[in-house]
Amino acid sequence: MAATFGAARVLVASNRGPVSYEQRDDGTLHAKRGGGGLVSGLSAIGPEADALWVCSVLGDGDREAVRRGVGEPGVRMLDIPADVHADAYNGIANSVLWFVHHMLYQTPLEPVFDAEFRRQWASYESYNRAFAEALAAEAAQGAAVLVQDYHLTLVPGLLRELRPDLLISHFSHTPWAPPEYFRMLPDDIAAQVLRGMLGADRLGFLTRRWADAFTACCEAFTGGLGDTEVGVHGLGADGDFLRRRSHDDDVVRRMAVLREEIGAGRRAIVRVDRTELSKNIVRGLLAYRQLLDDHPEWRERVVHVAFAYPSRQDLAVYRDYMAEVRRLAGEINAGYGTAGWTPVVLHLEDDFARSLAAYRLADVALVNPIRDGMNLVAKEVPVVSDEGCVLVLSREAGAWEELGEDAVGVNPYDVCGTAAALHAGLVMSAGERAERTKRLAAAGTALPPARWFLDQLEALRAGA
Ligand code: F6P
Repeated sequence: MAATFGAARVLVASNRGPVSYEQRDDGTLHAKRGGGGLVSGLSAIGPEADALWVCSVLGDGDREAVRRGVGEPGVRMLDIPADVHADAYNGIANSVLWFVHHMLYQTPLEPVFDAEFRRQWASYESYNRAFAEALAAEAAQGAAVLVQDYHLTLVPGLLRELRPDLLISHFSHTPWAPPEYFRMLPDDIAAQVLRGMLGADRLGFLTRRWADAFTACCEAFTGGLGDTEVGVHGLGADGDFLRRRSHDDDVVRRMAVLREEIGAGRRAIVRVDRTELSKNIVRGLLAYRQLLDDHPEWRERVVHVAFAYPSRQDLAVYRDYMAEVRRLAGEINAGYGTAGWTPVVLHLEDDFARSLAAYRLADVALVNPIRDGMNLVAKEVPVVSDEGCVLVLSREAGAWEELGEDAVGVNPYDVCGTAAALHAGLVMSAGERAERTKRLAAAGTALPPARWFLDQLEALRAGA
């Protein structure tokens, strides 16, 4: 049977789309547009490309929007049943694949790949199939399809079967696990994930390290990469946007509030994260406490400004982690604080303008993930910093490959070592700090989001 073709010539597929809907009490739907690399990347190709973004409904507001036929041009939301989505997103993507790639399991008790896991895996398959079918229906002949992330590892293979004419890529925004960790997955599942990805013409990773880990997994489990090409595209910060946005009035107002909270003449150690289990916020707080013990001269003279924004709160382990962050910050404040000094200023509500305000006035930025695909905060802070900021950076962050030379490196598990790195950051001379910040900003903006996206599109077409 001859395939019927759609009209889109460039398609992006991701679980979370560029827009989400909230249903208000009066029944109206309110659209919220997201930012990020893919949004600016896709807008860079211009309207003539007949671009389409295929994503999933994520909540009740999105589902209602699809039912009412409300939507934005260039976006198609798939009405995946809520239970299937919960299994695929919470059960498999966030509780298994995320854990494997970030090596987060506490192995004496987990993972347990039992019948419940197999049931959720079946949902992950049908969720991936829904994406593949929608993409197959929407794509013009020979179109380029750019599939994103661990939620959609099976899509390239499924789509290749439906539409052999398409150019298909897949990009991983996370690390990739080394073979000895990846093999924790049941053999058939490990092979299915790799074969799904190898359905693509081209696979993209954020760093050489993650690309090599993927290649090593293929060599160990599928007999190699076959015809699939592997490329590295280290997404950078959007320098022009950040420099402009960080001087808007709302950011300036938040700087004044933050300065009050920190107190006159004090140094600020800043961290900004979505509270993912891989971000290592708890050990960051422990390291700060160690700093106050090892160097009491910093008491009253420094404040740890920690923004830990909620993420994946449907999962108990994420809620517990956030509670631990809150508890430990409270314990440090109770144990060390004085009438005029709050050692930890913790904020948990997402506020982009406040994040930029903190970036501008940070003396030291703490980016200490256990493992991270890239970490854009490490690239954003130096761009926005007013007077230069020392970057204390985990060698397990993807950003380490590009920024390591001008950062102060840490082993993220070494609390005493991290405390020493914070001290080194606080005592670094203003001149050296400014010089390093300049180089970090240049390296961090080398591949802005639009260029990052277009490079991948060009490479996919060039390989055809
Ligand atoms: O932290 C980055 C990341 O893992 C990306 O790979 C992905 O796009 C995003 O988080 C997914 O986050 P969420 O679960 O909030 O949609």
